[in-house]
Amino acid sequence: MPDDRSHLVVVSNRLPVDRTVGPDGEPTWSQSPGGLVTALEPVMRSAGGAWVGWGGQPDLGLEPFEHDGIRIIPIDLSESDIERYYEGFSNDTLWPLYHDVIAPPSYHRLWWDSYLSVNRRFADAAIAAAAPDATVWVQDYQLQLVPRMLREARPDLTIGFFNHIPFPAYGIYSQLPWRTQIIEGLLGADVIGFQRVADAGNFTRAVRRLLPYSTKGSIVNVPDGDGARQVLAKAFPISIDTAGFEELAQRPEVRARAEQIRHDLGNPRKIMLGVDRLDYTKGIRHRVKAFGELLADGRIEVGDVALVQVASPSRERVETYRQLRDEVELTVGRINGDYGTISHQPISYLHHGFPREEMAALYLAADVMLVTALRDGMNLVAKEYVAARSGDLDGVLVLSEFAGAADELRTAVLINPHDIAGLKDAIRGALDMPREERRRRMRAMRKRVRENDVEHWSATFLDALRRVRRGDDLSALS
Ligand code: G6P
Repeated sequence: MPDDRSHLVVVSNRLPVDRTVGPDGEPTWSQSPGGLVTALEPVMRSAGGAWVGWGGQPDLGLEPFEHDGIRIIPIDLSESDIERYYEGFSNDTLWPLYHDVIAPPSYHRLWWDSYLSVNRRFADAAIAAAAPDATVWVQDYQLQLVPRMLREARPDLTIGFFNHIPFPAYGIYSQLPWRTQIIEGLLGADVIGFQRVADAGNFTRAVRRLLPYSTKGSIVNVPDGDGARQVLAKAFPISIDTAGFEELAQRPEVRARAEQIRHDLGNPRKIMLGVDRLDYTKGIRHRVKAFGELLADGRIEVGDVALVQVASPSRERVETYRQLRDEVELTVGRINGDYGTISHQPISYLHHGFPREEMAALYLAADVMLVTALRDGMNLVAKEYVAARSGDLDGVLVLSEFAGAADELRTAVLINPHDIAGLKDAIRGALDMPREERRRRMRAMRKRVRENDVEHWSATFLDALRRVRRGDDLSALS
């Protein structure tokens, strides 16, 4: 029997492919948009890589299959797994906790039990898929117990973990009833990647508070048999497919579409844009409030400035997300009712996702991009906007200092979204910013997203894992 096990296995909650059922009832799979799969695709192809993940719907009962040179290993989730592991523990416990308790996290033992058993299912699939001495790269907060499960079963593996969301300060993290189990789960990895230096620091501090392990810089010394194993916990800020986005934004049909958008909005002098999953971490309410007040104060005229807010549906069965949708839609409706005219609506609110081409056209049309997250691991929209504006070096990025991207995009207009007065002044300043200053700021940001694209990110992370496999002293990387 041929050994079809892989030397590189990626494990993430969602598969990198989306399933759609055609009119003939036949399912087809297409690559989902997103940087991770774009970056990993070439490496996965050449390594004969496998990807373990969930197909996005309950009880699909699928066998592994091949898609574009990648072996896809689907994990089954039942309705109850989705409720307890995905909507519950992942998105109503960990998500709010890790985003600085913007919404109150719920702690339920049944949800934890489900998190544990689903993590076990993902780990078992990865164990079966991995060739001897393979590298396994686990992604994100839904799967924090997987690294340790892998190590216990397969000490031959080299194991990476990347946390796409923030890691909170210990004073917040310590609320979690299962705080030690999660840290132990993560420490099963050889390399633990975070978005920001601050996240890595929060993690090593939590290790010191909860376990008798010593740390030095980014290295955690974890007891292993008679000796100790070095675990590297360090920032690897994720990025986007910069060249792909630049190319997309230069296509004539995308540029034409941007013109059309401006025309359809009634040719306002300035267009402002927000693009987010409809999530309470994104600060959509703060942004809309600031915009409404600017209209009320007469500092913005309807027809002169238009705000387009794309809010793509997300986690719609979780109560906090339902409430947020009601609140945002109430506020948007009020502002449009109070300040709209027959010909102009102040806010064009769109509750759906769009293909990449349409996003690129929106970025090109937007004079001011508003990223006002209250807390965000990175925020790739900010980077996409910069990449899309590489051609004309125009546009102003208003960026929350609470988004990971603010560590890199230092010449954005940095704001504190909780300070509504400051946010209003920053928005007015962005609308009035002279062309020369816009160019100068955008040029510096473009340099950064070109240097650190998602390909660079994954290569750097995989290189750290390679060094572990070779037995290098990790202190050099710390
Ligand atoms: C964030 C998380 C991802 C997640 C995505 C969409 O970016 O870091 O892990 O996949 O949100 O959320 P969803 O719950 O729809 O997968």
